[in-house]
Amino acid sequence: MASNVIAIDGPAASGKSSVAKKLASKLNIVFVSTGSLYRALAWKAIGNGLDTAKLSEDPSRLASFLSTTEIAYEKPQGESDYQVKIDDVFPMEKLHTMEVSAGASNVAKIPEVRKYLLDFQRAFAAKGNWIVMEGRDIGTEIFPDAKYKFFLTAAPEARAKRRLMQDGGTPSEEEIARVASQIAARDEQDRTRAVAPLRQAEDAFLLDNSELDLEETLSVLLFHIAPEDGGKVPTVLRYRVPYADTDNMGVVYYANYYRYFEMFRTEFMIDAGYPYAKMEEKGIALPVIESGCSYRSSAKFEDVIEVTGRIAECKGVRIRIECEIHCGGKLLATGFTVHACLDRKKGKLVRVPAILSSLMK
Ligand code: DC
Repeated sequence: MASNVIAIDGPAASGKSSVAKKLASKLNIVFVSTGSLYRALAWKAIGNGLDTAKLSEDPSRLASFLSTTEIAYEKPQGESDYQVKIDDVFPMEKLHTMEVSAGASNVAKIPEVRKYLLDFQRAFAAKGNWIVMEGRDIGTEIFPDAKYKFFLTAAPEARAKRRLMQDGGTPSEEEIARVASQIAARDEQDRTRAVAPLRQAEDAFLLDNSELDLEETLSVLLFHIAPEDGGKVPTVLRYRVPYADTDNMGVVYYANYYRYFEMFRTEFMIDAGYPYAKMEEKGIALPVIESGCSYRSSAKFEDVIEVTGRIAECKGVRIRIECEIHCGGKLLATGFTVHACLDRKKGKLVRVPAILSSLMK
């Protein structure tokens, strides 16, 4: 059976901890930031006067450091979020100093430390509750059998911008370029390091969120989580056929099915957290360039039809949406529309917005 874990891995500043936290709160489950575990060990080592860069050089000292360390993940009194506790202390914000960050990066390279935390992370999940765990190796090493795996990334420039904006102000192009090149160098280091290199699990869903905000990223994650686990319920448009939709034969006029497809698309995009109107505000339109429909049966006045559908293909500037229409469990029609993605201001075709291509299953 798959582990009761939603694994979110990815490089630094990919937005994974913000989205993991939001996801956990939305699903009302525990959020574990595994980076804070490495940080807590580094914080303790520094406090004990140990040099984290040299900790691995003395195996017996390292062993005694780990065997005398009690790590836990609990809610501090009066707090709603779980936090790392080490030797009965919640270090909280003390884990986020530059010194501790550098120390965490050092201890994260030590195989014994990784093994120690691997055991802790697995024992924590074995308690049985659903958890969202965020880190670098959750989907690959800690829980290769996690029920859901996401790998979040973003272009170095997008990550640099986010990081600089966190510090307040509007960063200049030069600043963004400088930080982006540092980020790219660190990615390279993380991907090629000997111990626990950062890599995407083969079965993880890759999401490049360079163009997505936090809410949009969350929407995509929820879309890929099954409804029974708190994820998004697939869009179903239910519609009672009005008199005006029927023809002289007393059935829905064939051309109306294209309206139903459009009504479905509207609902689908609202459900996905990216309404058509919001997309248009950004200057993007999706004119239909091709469509088709096969009719199997007909619907009459007052029938309730159900329209379902999915994004079937996203290629460059084109997106294909396929729909099915049922009535009382009977298939009435299947159809599709192909849209071109148009930048209306420039009058040019552009790549399909990332959020839409991320909603393809
Ligand atoms: O995500 P963070 O910045 O809080 O992580 C702190 C350090 O720990 C960072 O150097 C990466 C490392 N880390 C890791 O190697 N494996 C994890 N699962 C989590 C963090």
